[in-house]
Amino acid sequence: MAEKTWEILEGACYNCRKCKLWETRNNVVIGKGNRNADIMFIGEGPGQQEDLTGIPFVGPAGQLLDKMLNAIDLTIDDVYIANIVKCRPPNNRDPQEEEQEACLNYLRYQLVLVKPKIIVCLGRIAGTAIISPTFRITKQRGQWIERKGYWITSTFHPSALLRDESKKRPAWEDFKSIKQKLIELEQNEI
Ligand code: URA
Repeated sequence: MAEKTWEILEGACYNCRKCKLWETRNNVVIGKGNRNADIMFIGEGPGQQEDLTGIPFVGPAGQLLDKMLNAIDLTIDDVYIANIVKCRPPNNRDPQEEEQEACLNYLRYQLVLVKPKIIVCLGRIAGTAIISPTFRITKQRGQWIERKGYWITSTFHPSALLRDESKKRPAWEDFKSIKQKLIELEQNEI
């Protein structure tokens, strides 16, 4: 198998027409942050701001995510952030199964390049695609599984926190648990 590179990934994504979302996209949104991060956050798909800028999580949900990262003493330089689909679903509808399926290999490639220790699924769509098809965000958020060398967890999508204040406290518990896992994994390396 040839060496994996960011250039190959970017070329493939920018030219991608594997699903119909290419027809309506302004930009392909690949990822942002530290390409060598120990933590990778995975959202659902680009919204309007992200589609216009080509950068994930720049809208209101992204600003809240930044705040929550800061609250556990992390910044965008400590994490890498990507999405299940790299093109905006029209009117912010859920990405359809065939769109997710078409895009997932790019995310798998990205995981190989970044090699995070921790994967955090943001919301139901990411949890269902990454953790299990029967994933339930309200029941399973905050739980940890170890798979293929990754520690994987999930929490509410920041957009859900903006719609429903009562989700903020459990999400805060999840963020503290993420920080704790990071410290634990770092200590194991000594
Ligand atoms: N919501 C997402 O899931 N991803 C983004 O990039 C922005 C908003």
